[in-house]
Parts: sequence; structure tokens; C-alpha cells
Amino acid sequence: MRLPSQSLSTLAGALALSATALAAETPLERGAYLVEGPAACGSCHTAPMPGAAPLAGRTLVEPAFTAEVPNITPGSRIADWSDAELVRAIREGIRPDGSVIGPPMPIMLYRHLSDSDVTAMVTYLRTVPAVETKFKASTYPFPLPPAYGPPIDSVADVPREVSVAYGEYLAGPVAHCLECHSLKDGMPDLDGHLGGGGHTWEGPWGVSVAANLTSHEDGLADYSDAEIATMITQGIRPDGSQMHPPMSYRHYAYMTEDDVAALILYLRTLPPIPDGG
Ligand code: HEC
Ligand code: HEC
Repeated sequence: MRLPSQSLSTLAGALALSATALAAETPLERGAYLVEGPAACGSCHTAPMPGAAPLAGRTLVEPAFTAEVPNITPGSRIADWSDAELVRAIREGIRPDGSVIGPPMPIMLYRHLSDSDVTAMVTYLRTVPAVETKFKASTYPFPLPPAYGPPIDSVADVPREVSVAYGEYLAGPVAHCLECHSLKDGMPDLDGHLGGGGHTWEGPWGVSVAANLTSHEDGLADYSDAEIATMITQGIRPDGSQMHPPMSYRHYAYMTEDDVAALILYLRTLPPIPDGG
């Protein structure tokens, strides 16, 4: 997976507003914040080239398969889907024609997105610049599951505050931090390897290794909160070294201070796992 380097600056205004005027935030502002910030939909749906049209799709090459990540701007076929159909596609991975969305779209985590957050995302997606492309289907070298679980009626909001619970919601359902940082033998292991890191990605930048985010000394134990915040939002470690893709810090740069604080509170609670454990 590769990181985009597209400019997100056009959204800076709306996002700054959502950071300061939380109480008065509209669904559109909330959706813009989630999609461009912590959810980082563009880290997969935008081509990793400077100037690439945001959310207009790209081909993503993984070791085990190649995915055609679709265009999700209003110039794509999703313009013909109702809001409820789009919510179902994002949260359950099932399209209106009944077909199932394949990896690496993190559906298992998106299943826990709250009704108001997933609806806000849809509201925002309807407003991004339309780019017209022809839909290309992915071909996976393995069968997709018939579904990712039973149909979802409703998911309540997790109260938006600087709490472990809200940090857990951000790290899982919203930002899928724990999908990348809990991969073991290529599969997310959220029970035995939560935040343990170790998965590697190769790209033009070289090799990057998902960091250990647990409370172990091989993980985040020796970093201050401020140091962790800088790593998440700027991709810079205390020793000055710069992180490489697919860590999506360019998107996380838009996160509010409160949301970063909640994330860190939650990461501090991850049971310790040593590197290689
Ligand atoms: C880790 C990569 C990744 C992330 C992050 C991701 N997606 Fe996807 N998404 C995909 C892939 C890959 C597909 C297509 C899979 C296939 O071909 O079956 C897809 C499919 C979709 C579709 C179906 C579109 C169609 O025409 O079939 C929608 C809608 C969608 N994603 C929305 C989103 C939204 C909204 C977000 C952010 C909340 C998001 N995705 C985040 C990888 C990702
Ligand atoms: C698409 C996969 C992916 C996602 C999603 C992701 N990360 Fe990362 N993360 C990485 C990789 C890979 C590295 C190592 C980058 C490097 O060394 O160049 C990394 C590095 C880090 C580091 C540096 C720690 C250290 O000790 O060096 C922190 C902190 C971190 N991620 C936190 C997060 C948080 C919090 C989130 C969610 C908001 C997140 N990551 C989402 C892949 C990911």
C-alpha cells in the first residue's frame, strides 16, 4: 500500500472550522473531518502521485493480490446509489447489486462506525469534486466471504471526549490504526497481537515496518505524549527520522488535539507485547 501525497489544503478551512466549532459542527463538516483526517479514505482511494484527483481511485498492488480501488467521487457509479446503499457499502461491504467489497477495505472495523459518523461521511462524499472514470473490477486470487457479518441495524455514537473509549473508537473503526499495527503473518490479529507491529511494506522508499504501539518498552512506553503526537501527525520520531508509507500521517495532521489525546490515552492501555512477540 502506498501513501498519497495529494494536496488536502482546499479542505483546510472546513477542517479548521470543525476543530474549533465542534458543538456547532454540521454533518458535512464532520464527514470532511473524518474522511480527510483520521479515516484517511484517500490513503487507498487516491492515487499516490502529486496532483492526483482526490478519491478518484487507483490500482493498489499488495503482495497477495492487486485491488482496483474504486473512484468514490460523485462522478463514479456511487452517484446512482442512495445514501442508505452507500452506508451499507462502507459499513457492511455489500454493494447495491449484492456483491461484496474485497480487501484491503477495512470492513471488519468499519462495521463499528456509528450511524451519525458513517452518514456524515456519505454527506461529504457527495460534495467532493466529481471525476469521471470507468469502473474496473478487482480480481482476487481467493474467494471473498459472502458477507462480513449479519446486517447492521444501528450503531450508537461513542461520546466524543478525551477518553480511552473514544480513543479506541478512533484507533479501530475510524482510522484502522490497529489493522496495520496488529498484522501477524499478513492477517490482523486483534486478539493475540493487538498493536504488536512487525508487518513490513516495500516500496520506492525502501522497507517500512509497522511499529510496536503497545505499552511495552519496545513499543511506546519510553515516548512522552508530545512525542507520540508528533509521530502520529507529522511522521517524525524524536530522533528526527522521518516515517515512510503507508503510515498516513499526512491525513492525521488534520486531527484535532483532543482526538490525538484520546488516541494516545487508548494506546497507553494496550497490553505490552515485545518486538517479535
Ligand atoms: C486500506 C484501503 C482502503 C481504505 C482505507 C478505504 N477503502 Fe474503500 N475500498 C478499497 C478497495 C480495495 C475497494 C474495492 C474492493 C473490491 O474491488 O472488491 C473499496 C471499495 C469501496 C467502495 C465501493 C465502491 C464501488 O464502486 O464499488 C466504497 C463506497 C468505498 N470503498 C468507500 C470508502 C470510504 C468512504 C473509506 C473511508 C472511510 C474507504 N473506502 C477506505 C480500499 C480501501
Ligand atoms: C496503512 C497502515 C498503517 C495505518 C493505517 C497506521 N499506521 Fe502507524 N505506522 C505504519 C508503518 C508502516 C509505520 C512505520 C513507518 C516507518 O518506519 O517508516 C508506522 C509507524 C507508526 C508510529 C511510530 C512509532 C515508532 O516507535 O516508530 C506510530 C506512533 C504510529 N504508526 C501510530 C499510528 C496510529 C495512532 C494510527 C491511526 C491513527 C496509525 N499508526 C495508522 C503503518 C500504519
